[in-house]
Formats: sequence, C-alpha cells, structure tokens
Amino acid sequence: MNNRRNFLKSGVLLATGMAVSAPLLAKPKKGRDPKFSGVIYTDEDTGMWAGKQDHHVPVVTVEGNSITLFTDHPMSEVHYIVRHTLVDKSGKVLGSKTFYPTDEKAVSRFTVPSEYHGKLYATSFCNKHDFWLKEFVV
Ligand SMILES: [Fe+2]
Repeated sequence: MNNRRNFLKSGVLLATGMAVSAPLLAKPKKGRDPKFSGVIYTDEDTGMWAGKQDHHVPVVTVEGNSITLFTDHPMSEVHYIVRHTLVDKSGKVLGSKTFYPTDEKAVSRFTVPSEYHGKLYATSFCNKHDFWLKEFVV
C-alpha cells in the first residue's frame, strides 16, 4: 500500500514537471500512523503545531486504577481545552469530560476496571490547536 502511494505521488509529481523530493517520499517516523498525522498530534508528531505540545498533550497520573488527566493550558473564552477522553486498547471510550471556558483547569479523573492491563489513550482537544493524544500503559 505504501509503495503504491509513493508510486502515485511520484507519478503526479513527474507529470506536473516537479522534481521528486526525498522528504515527501520518506517513510513516516517510527510510531507514526501516517493516516492520522495532521489529524492527531502527539509529543512525537506535533505537525503544524510544533512547540505547542507541552500545553496540549495531557499529563497522565496513575494511582492504582484511578487515572488523572491534566492539560496545562489556559482556559479563556476564546481559547480553551474542550474535552478529555480516556480510551482503552480496543477503542472503547472509558470516560470523557467536557470543559467550559469558565473552568479553572482542564483536569479529569477516571477509573479503569481493576483487571485491566495494557495500553490506554488519553486525549485532549483544544478549540484552536486540535486533537492531542498520549499513549500509556497500566
Ligand atoms: Fe491551545
């Protein structure tokens, strides 16, 4: 599939008379899923929001089966964190919290089943800087 995509890119570029640039045809960085790059941002894949990750990627604290998410982001009428979600390894949403510009902080707390072990995904959505993801293991 990736070879076909690169072939198509090369063909389009050659047909338009443009030189094929190596970065355009480069494979995505390890850990990146290219179909979500530019849609979901992480510490490793900040895309067009480079430098914004410290205030958008949720900070995760695990205490037993209690998970706390915190996004160190200002909360104002025009710019704020809209929502947190916690998702398990099968894609099931374990919980979510919607925030309002009047909330002091973007903090949410969830409980995972005590028998759950494995990957979890914490998300944080900013009304200006899109959707951020933190993967972690419990
Ligand atoms: Fe933001």
